[in-house]
Amino acid sequence: MRHDESRALYDRALSVIPGGVNSSVRATRPYPFFVERGDGAHVVDADGNRYLDYVMGYGPLLYGHDMPDPVRAAVQSHASEGPMYGAPTEIEVDLAEFVARHVPSVEMIRFVNSGTEATVSAVRLARGYTGRDKIVVMQGGYHGAQESTLVEGSFDNAAPSSPGIPSSFAEHTIPVPFNDAAAAERVFEEHGDEIAAVLTEPILANTGIVHPVDGYHERLRELTESHGALLIFDEVITGFRVGGLQCAQGKFGVTPDVTTFGKIVGGGFPVGAIGGRAEILEQFTPAGDVFQSGTFSGHPVTMAAGYETLRYAAENDVYDHVNRLGERLRAGISDIVADQAPAYTVVGTDSMFKTVFTREAPDVDEGAPTCDAGCTQDESCARYDHCPKTGADVAAAETERWERIFWQEMKDAGIFLTPNQFESQFVSYAHTDADVEETLEAYKEAL
Ligand SMILES: Cc1ncc(COP(=O)(O)O)c(C=O)c1O
Repeated sequence: MRHDESRALYDRALSVIPGGVNSSVRATRPYPFFVERGDGAHVVDADGNRYLDYVMGYGPLLYGHDMPDPVRAAVQSHASEGPMYGAPTEIEVDLAEFVARHVPSVEMIRFVNSGTEATVSAVRLARGYTGRDKIVVMQGGYHGAQESTLVEGSFDNAAPSSPGIPSSFAEHTIPVPFNDAAAAERVFEEHGDEIAAVLTEPILANTGIVHPVDGYHERLRELTESHGALLIFDEVITGFRVGGLQCAQGKFGVTPDVTTFGKIVGGGFPVGAIGGRAEILEQFTPAGDVFQSGTFSGHPVTMAAGYETLRYAAENDVYDHVNRLGERLRAGISDIVADQAPAYTVVGTDSMFKTVFTREAPDVDEGAPTCDAGCTQDESCARYDHCPKTGADVAAAETERWERIFWQEMKDAGIFLTPNQFESQFVSYAHTDADVEETLEAYKEAL
């Protein structure tokens, strides 16, 4: 593969864009390939190399790179009619009604422009609604580039995870390990009447992927309810990806008070949203006093893309297709791992997948039951104790091996995976059974 054009573009970019990229995860080593165009499940780079794409824009592209006809038509017509006004439009009501109809926690929804903006607004809403300041987050969880959640450490020793964030932010944030109900109970015992909300992804999708153990979300639900705090599910990744149109909360049967969305709900255009019970959402201005506003919020092109994307999914076999291929991939990778790298753990659900380069192989007897298409924290599985339960378990994996060796080899084989150990990968409606076979062959070679 030649990369001369990408190399030259990166050279130019380094002079005018910090680190040469507009989002830090894109700065792959030694330099990223620059995409010229998408084509179904593939991307083609500036040198004409073609890659089978499982990054899928980090999640938004449920259909791959070709918009279904109704989505394309709606985007084109809304773009050519405006493209935006600073006054409300019918299409934002259509999308709000659609989400409220399908997602259990959502009676009302406010659209914004990114997942980050959604979680910033959700935290402010929870603080305004409860009159409390503290929020509980999961160690290793990610909620975008916001001050209140870029915090690391433990529950009595939290600190900002980036320069530029005053340590006073961390004083109000309590990080706990995911899947550790006892840790959450302890935090509520000590700080119950100061906690505005627990903010968590239903599945940690930016660190692993880490699936919840049985009963964990139910326990968070009980704790928040009994202490007058809100439960916020950050479904920026899992929304309209896990559990289909009902999202992960529908699949797990746990209804949060507030949900944040992003990615798929904007059909590939910049988006975020905060949904939840009406009495909480109505605290936002102008209905209530918690300030929330945005020039581009509810942008007609985004709203049209999101609405037609979700309608298309409701009317076609989209989730059956992507989930079936996701299962085939995870099952196939599980077999390869069992043969070639038994310490590694295959994770994911629905159309998400990843292989965590865990370090210790379980002593699996011949015939002992294992999860056959990715870890779902099944206690009867022989791998249960080795399946990552927390962000720290994933961070303890062979993260350098993923980034420096495995990812590079897969890229050279024409398979574009997320470049670090932490971010999820996604199957789209454009992927085929033949793509899965090709991917498994590449895994066999690279692992
Ligand atoms: C769970 C979660 N929350 C929030 C965000 C931030 O979204 P955005 O990058 O659109 O600001 C992300 C981004 O990947 C995410 O995965």
